[in-house]
Amino acid sequence: MAGEQGRSVLVTGGNRGIGLEVARRFVREGDRVAATYRTSAPEENFLAVQCDVTSSADVDQAFKEVEAAHGNVEVLIVNAGINDDQLLLRMSEESFTSVLDTNLTGAFRVVKRSLKGMLRAKHGRIILISSAVALRGEAGQANYAASKAGLIGLARSLAREYGSRGITVNVVAPGLTATDMSQALTEEQRDELVRQIPVGRLGNPAEIASAVHFLAGQSYITGAVIPVDGGAGMGH
Ligand SMILES: NC(=O)c1ccc[n+]([C@@H]2O[C@H](COP(=O)([O-])OP(=O)(O)OC[C@H]3O[C@@H](n4cnc5c(N)ncnc54)[C@H](OP(=O)(O)O)[C@@H]3O)[C@@H](O)[C@H]2O)c1
Repeated sequence: MAGEQGRSVLVTGGNRGIGLEVARRFVREGDRVAATYRTSAPEENFLAVQCDVTSSADVDQAFKEVEAAHGNVEVLIVNAGINDDQLLLRMSEESFTSVLDTNLTGAFRVVKRSLKGMLRAKHGRIILISSAVALRGEAGQANYAASKAGLIGLARSLAREYGSRGITVNVVAPGLTATDMSQALTEEQRDELVRQIPVGRLGNPAEIASAVHFLAGQSYITGAVIPVDGGAGMGH
């Protein structure tokens, strides 16, 4: 529940796509919201802090700025992510490690930094944005799917480590969502993927934000993976 001034919420990659919609949702609900951007600051009604999640120094500096403005982070949404699709035989080691470095090690850096304050407060809500492909796999996305599956192992281990300290750790697994990331697909690829979605369309960022906001208000859900994918991942 939001207190008088709401909660201190931090979203990584909040300048566009899903992260921006998540940040806007928490702002609308009256929370004190900060969002990180890597390249260009969003002109929005929340605190924007520069941070590349591949740099521990950037992550530490971003947290210092947020703590100074809003106090310790109480709700953390790890959303920053990239893909670099290629069939494995053509995938360079650099492509594999850089996707892992942003999506998975980046999550490790941000979550680890957030735990200090959450442990002191004996309260915290951590939500990691994974993907439907974490569980079902996708041709051409070995690096991305591995990084997103890794987030589930990370979340569930932390749920066990910190559950008794008032900290919950959950995962939202979006299916194909209408953002820059899905724009990169050809029309043919998108049509083929939409055919596999029972709801028959792409998700929109507000639908992902709704699930994230729900989890941030829960005290007895931890280690869960919530699919928000129009049914595409059913049974996985
Ligand atoms: N769209 C989909 O279909 C879909 C489906 C499942 C899961 N997801 C996941 O949802 C999350 C958001 O995706 P999206 O579709 O909104 O993607 P997007 O529109 O491409 O936005 C990606 C965000 O991540 C940030 N980012 C990338 N690398 C970063 C780094 N090294 N340090 C800090 N920030 C970085 C970007 O910042 P810049 O603007 O500065 O680059 C941007 O804010 C990702 O984790 C993605 O894997 C997306």
